[in-house]
Amino acid sequence: MLTSLRDVLHDLVRDLYSAETQLIKALPKMAKAASDAGLKAAITGHLEETREQAARLEKTCELLGIKPKGKTCQAMKGLLEEGAEVMAEEGSPAAKDAAMIVAAQKVEHYEIAGYGAARVFATVLGETEVAALMTETLEEEKAADAKLTGIAESTVNDEADKEGSDDPDEPEEDEEDADEEVEDDEDEEEAKAKPTPAKMGKKPPAKATAGKR
Ligand SMILES: [Fe+2]
Repeated sequence: MLTSLRDVLHDLVRDLYSAETQLIKALPKMAKAASDAGLKAAITGHLEETREQAARLEKTCELLGIKPKGKTCQAMKGLLEEGAEVMAEEGSPAAKDAAMIVAAQKVEHYEIAGYGAARVFATVLGETEVAALMTETLEEEKAADAKLTGIAESTVNDEADKEGSDDPDEPEEDEEDADEEVEDDEDEEEAKAKPTPAKMGKKPPAKATAGKR
């Protein structure tokens, strides 16, 4: 029964716990089904985060004096069913990756809504420790969403473009490979300026990541 904001928070936390545990089961399948290496890595990385998020919710339940289990998040169930439909569908790897990114982002947006509300309710109720835990997860979900956007904008679009223009006479263009290779020189300048005897800690050049903004 919902008679107070605290009831709503309890319900929400248990809903999120169900959502995260469903996701822990689904993400390995999604990672396996993804073709793009970056997408695969993003999904696998988020699986680790999701396990931590579930643990964070268990801690939250402890703080609130409630049991985490016993509720099924129907929304996540539906979202994951849609994801499974995409995975089962016939089609090109790039198009399927694109559709999987959409499915994954819908999941993230659902979670962002839930954690955002949980943080607000916890803050209003003076549950500062709970609010801090919700903030931590909320930031991870936003970052996961942004990463997916980055993958969609770079890799998947490139692949989809290639599929769209498969004129065999047209030579493949290799562009945009020579960006951002200036930092090494700057490092050397800095090293010269310092009177240190040996070149310690020479860092490997930072690779430009696909989803970097
Ligand atoms: Fe999550």
